[in-house]
Amino acid sequence: MTINTKNTNETYRHHYHLMPEYGWMNDPNGFSFFNNSYHLFYQYYPYDTVWGPMHWAHAVSDDLIKWDHEKIALRPDKSYDKNGVFSGSGLQVGNEHWLYYTGHNDSFLDFLYDQNLKKKEGVIESEEIVSPIRQVQCLAKSADGITYEKYEHNPVISSQQVPSNIRLEDFRDPKVWEHHDQFYMIVGAKSHENVGHVLFYCSNDGVTWEYLNQLSLGPEYGTAWECPDLFELDGKHVLIFSPQEIPRIGYRYENIHSTMALIGEFDYETGEFIVENEQELDKGFDFYAPQTTLSEEGKRVMIAWMNMWDMEYPLHELGHSWNGSMTLPRELLLKDGKLIQKPYHTIDKYREERIEWSHFSIKDYFENDKLRGNCKKMEIKFCMNDSDYFNMEFFKGDREKLLLSFDKSRNEIVLDRRNAQFPIKNTAIHNDFTRSHSIDLSQKVKLNIFLDVSSIEIFVNDGEHVFTSLFFSKELGEQVLLHSEGHTHIDKLIKWELR
Ligand code: FRU
Repeated sequence: MTINTKNTNETYRHHYHLMPEYGWMNDPNGFSFFNNSYHLFYQYYPYDTVWGPMHWAHAVSDDLIKWDHEKIALRPDKSYDKNGVFSGSGLQVGNEHWLYYTGHNDSFLDFLYDQNLKKKEGVIESEEIVSPIRQVQCLAKSADGITYEKYEHNPVISSQQVPSNIRLEDFRDPKVWEHHDQFYMIVGAKSHENVGHVLFYCSNDGVTWEYLNQLSLGPEYGTAWECPDLFELDGKHVLIFSPQEIPRIGYRYENIHSTMALIGEFDYETGEFIVENEQELDKGFDFYAPQTTLSEEGKRVMIAWMNMWDMEYPLHELGHSWNGSMTLPRELLLKDGKLIQKPYHTIDKYREERIEWSHFSIKDYFENDKLRGNCKKMEIKFCMNDSDYFNMEFFKGDREKLLLSFDKSRNEIVLDRRNAQFPIKNTAIHNDFTRSHSIDLSQKVKLNIFLDVSSIEIFVNDGEHVFTSLFFSKELGEQVLLHSEGHTHIDKLIKWELR
């Protein structure tokens, strides 16, 4: 074991986001409501602060904000999942809690030997073995929501049920839901031509599955599609997924790996998804593999991993014994055919010490000690009719700042994190320190900003765009500085502490 599990360094730990107590975290898994609690599992490696053979860690909550850690739910201890219990989903079936996950095995020939499958005529001959990796879909069940038993006849979907155009080593992340007494599953995949796909399966009992259909948007939409989710929202169907390596196009897909939503109609008979609209889910640097569930009140809530693959985060090098966190839960809504995101309302009960400034103008700088704090919510509504440039500096120190700027001549919003003494670097692209989007600055702009020690989530114009990002400030700057060229009129500026 290379990490000290007793001495986790608290410096960058969040106060109102879920993180592992120690070790490595990635994707949210099994997000569901069971036995009067929300359950959120996540990809977990307890023995280091880098990715390793995946376990499912488990946390429960009453309000989706404060989480209690439970014992590890699933470990990579079977022949079919011995190199990782990969991502998947959870739902209540009868009185039980069922988890579906991907068994990852990167030495398939041993697996065949273990299972004595070698003898089975046709299994090996029918497959051209190009990779020793196999991914299969598996089931685990629990009666109490604490202890999970893997189904004795796993996998429930084996390599033989994968259509021939799909790579058997890239077939993962099952999301299962019920519709009219039938079970449906959507799984992420990659074809032999390196094109991202999702596959649909259906089942009467959640155990025996039949292949239904597949969806792809072609090579310009990325290689593997990971962590898909499909749900109904305001009379439409929404399919969210995380496509790898979509090329950048202007403001779109600036991250190495992206997250997208397709909005349209899903036909349960044929498994066909008719796409009417598409959009990127988050404009920040650190947002991946989102998963949704229905809240107790029937709202669609999404949580994502607040990180990104192929980036260098300093927590591991600094030896802090933990790495990875989740975003705030966000309610999803449809407005004019577009998905919008709102911080889930339960965060409001943690607000304290409200301070408000209203109806004033900023020319040059605005700074106030009452804006300080490393754990806060800010709301601001401003108008740039008489200014050309407006910006906000967060985590402000002498040599550091996270800069959010609005440039009227370009109608552009830009988040810039180059001024950090512990920079987060893209391992593939140099100087990749800005994320931007177009915005109509002839209209008033409203921002809802959540800052939590080393993270920021910026909801623009009631969640039309969201920028989610991490920032590891060495100076631990707590001040916010506002700056305007010309007069920026502030309708209101409100700040709360979040406890
Ligand atoms: C997405 C992902 C999933 C996979 C998991 C492994 O971040 O690559 O596709 O199941 O992480 O940890």
